[in-house]
Amino acid sequence: MNIVILAAGQGKRMRSALPKVLQPLAGRPLLAHVLDTARATARQCKSEAQIVVVVGHGADAVRAAFAAQADLRFVDQQPQLGTGHAVLQALPWLREDAPTLVLYGDVPLVRTQTLVGLVEAAAHHLGVLTVRMVNPSGYGRILRDVAGHVRSIVEERDADAAQRGIDEVNTGILVAPTGRLKHWLTGLSNANAQGEYYLTDVVAAARSEGLTVVASPAADADETLGVNSKAQLAHLERIVQRRSADALMDAGATLVDPARIDVRGDLTIGMDVYIDVGCVFEGLVSLGDRVRVGPHCVLRDTAVGAGTVVHAFSHLDGARIGADAIIGPYARLRPGAQLDDEVHIGNFVEVKASHLERGTKANHLAYVGDAHVGARSNVGAGTIFANYDGANKHRAEVGANVHVGSNSVLVAPVRIGAGATIGAGSTVSGEVPGEKLTVARARAVTIEGWQRPAKKR
Ligand code: UD1
Ligand code: MG
Repeated sequence: MNIVILAAGQGKRMRSALPKVLQPLAGRPLLAHVLDTARATARQCKSEAQIVVVVGHGADAVRAAFAAQADLRFVDQQPQLGTGHAVLQALPWLREDAPTLVLYGDVPLVRTQTLVGLVEAAAHHLGVLTVRMVNPSGYGRILRDVAGHVRSIVEERDADAAQRGIDEVNTGILVAPTGRLKHWLTGLSNANAQGEYYLTDVVAAARSEGLTVVASPAADADETLGVNSKAQLAHLERIVQRRSADALMDAGATLVDPARIDVRGDLTIGMDVYIDVGCVFEGLVSLGDRVRVGPHCVLRDTAVGAGTVVHAFSHLDGARIGADAIIGPYARLRPGAQLDDEVHIGNFVEVKASHLERGTKANHLAYVGDAHVGARSNVGAGTIFANYDGANKHRAEVGANVHVGSNSVLVAPVRIGAGATIGAGSTVSGEVPGEKLTVARARAVTIEGWQRPAKKR
């Protein structure tokens, strides 16, 4: 089928330099949500999708954002003379032997099932997706004849008082036989209150040819909500987040408060996962069985193994964590942090591009960067892996069962043999032997007979 997505409008009320369809919803552009639904609809209808996106305002930015998606064709609409004029720009790219589904780039919540229902209900006729609204103001109203058949759509600004009282409105989404659509669109006039070429006028055109128009009602008004302002964007964000929280709970997650979790990407979970309030998940995150995430954590592109606990206020980005580890509170894992089973990372510890083997601990106030640390080692409080000489990064290699005393500096490149102990407060570099104590600090000296100065009178 052909799918035309209208995305040329300016979105003036967003008051933003970013084109409206690139505004993020659940971490992804509005248009990305519509494209997902468009592709899924075609798949469910067992048809190949020919997707045409009509762009205008901010066209270059929109094209650039989706340049990697080879199944899309962009067409320019300059100037923007209305929704009918927008679809007209797409006509040369539409296959006549398949129906055309028209979607809006700023109506992101419509469900695949709803669109499949519309396409099936319309069969080979013109079908419009309608919805009943408590407050229909601003929308085009559906006019029916005495027999109840859809007769036409009248825009709010062209409607009389009686028509404005109608609560059945046009969502804007429609499906049409492509050959007829071409014919109707080329015959549109802009003699209306807004001086625009209205897509909605195809309904009256079909009726004037004696053709059937099918109105397919959307079950849920939330699906048809559009984004015209930041307040509406925030409202839709809550709806999307509630849908994802419900899906997580359906999959067995315990959410302390489903209204206080934000998923901006894909979160996959095992059994008996527990997530406290205020957590944000970005990109691809997976939580194994029995993982517990404390309040106010941010996890981005991170995998957490079974039984691991992430305590409050931890920030995990690009980390791979094994089973039964303990992270935080106030831990920071940066890209390339690879923590094996039973690793403990405590408060104010930062780990970057480092592999810590099983059972290793860094429990307080440390920086571990560009390092490999063997199993069952202990990185004392205040330890710094000095990996950067001002020009280049260097690696630290620390063996298994090493004890690094508090407040040590490991100046890379450095290699510490297995079983070594580094005395607290040491600065070490180069080769440090295993199984021995290495201390690099001035000895304490006690001065006999020294007098503490007293204030002169
Ligand atoms: C449209 C419908 C109205 C419906 C409402 C639902 C028409 C004439 N009216 O009105 O019946 O109730 O949507 O939200 O269709 N766009 C372009 N190029 C243009 C104009 C618009 O690409 O020249 C795009 C916009 O970016 C937007 C969509 O089409 O994504 C709808 O345009 P908008 O101006 O919001 O139409 P409405 O007046 O709301
Ligand atoms: Mg609108």
